Amino acid sequence: MDEVKGLYKVRDMSLAEEGKKRIAWAESRMPVLMALKEKYIASKPFKGYKIAGCLHVTKETAVLVKTFAACGAQVSWSGCNPLSTNDSVAAALADEKISIFAWHGMSVKEFYWAIDETVKIKPNLTLDDGADLIFTVHNKYPELAEGTILGGTEETTTGVHRLRAMADDGALRYPVIAVNDAETKWDFDNVYGTGQSTLDGIIRATSVLLAGKNVVVAGYGHCGKGVALRAKGMGANVIVTEVKPTAALKATLEGMRVMTMDEAAKIGDIFITATGVKDIVIEKHFAKMKDGAIVCNTGHYDCELNL
Ligand SMILES: NC(=O)c1ccc[n+]([C@@H]2O[C@H](COP(=O)([O-])OP(=O)(O)OC[C@H]3O[C@@H](n4cnc5c(N)ncnc54)[C@H](O)[C@@H]3O)[C@@H](O)[C@H]2O)c1
Repeated sequence: MDEVKGLYKVRDMSLAEEGKKRIAWAESRMPVLMALKEKYIASKPFKGYKIAGCLHVTKETAVLVKTFAACGAQVSWSGCNPLSTNDSVAAALADEKISIFAWHGMSVKEFYWAIDETVKIKPNLTLDDGADLIFTVHNKYPELAEGTILGGTEETTTGVHRLRAMADDGALRYPVIAVNDAETKWDFDNVYGTGQSTLDGIIRATSVLLAGKNVVVAGYGHCGKGVALRAKGMGANVIVTEVKPTAALKATLEGMRVMTMDEAAKIGDIFITATGVKDIVIEKHFAKMKDGAIVCNTGHYDCELNL
């Protein structure tokens, strides 16, 4: 591990050059953010603002973070999922003097340690994917939530659900923009982005041929629909499990077989959970599965699978 106390802690700084190449590639595919950077780099509208972020540490999010920094903000960042952190991207940011505390495969204890480190800058703004940073601020640093922090953003469906529940209880202490409520997020990123990246991840990890396989998708919401339609397009026999009748009906009319997980567990070759709800695949399902079945989660928290 490479560390400069209070500034960064990442896996390996020798990966920085590789990370910079990855970020440059992402920049070449993100014209809107790059245009905003060019527009605001001189006037620096974020000068004097301190931004703490708990977001996936990927090359794409690095472009966002670098844009904030270029526009004047002081940024301190941790990863919202230890399994999505790219160590070379983390090293590249640390090398460019952006405060970052993230490495692939960190433990739960290290995950919360990293959030605590980002809060040390006493942020005015927070960026979340899953609401763990906002929760930490409210639980451990209420003085920041009451006065210092002006507002935040939350990217994902599950995080927005968690924050709406907090707001309904009167417990949310500062305004948060529900990024997931933007049509360009839930109806595009969740459907087409997650639809593609989920299958890409499975294929890269397993080299499995999807054609002819029974692919079970739990949840036919935005992400689940995107995954199911793409798997179908690649020749899989797609089975959907749903609790919402209209979503189940949509899946049926869009050519999927719909059944319960109890039934699907026996025949599935690949299982993908996309519900945002815990305990979707549990012990009794694993007991019924074929040997060698592939089980994955694309919802925000891995508690959809109870191993
Ligand atoms: N992996 C990614 O890139 C990515 C991207 C965006 C969102 N997400 C996460 O994916 C999850 C789903 O997001 P979404 O936008 O598709 O939500 P959504 O609300 O549109 O869809 C969830 C669906 O799951 C269904 N469901 C709930 N309980 C179920 C159960 N027990 N069995 C079967 N189906 C059930 C709901 O009826 C709903 O149709 C969330 O946790 C979200 O944060 C992941």
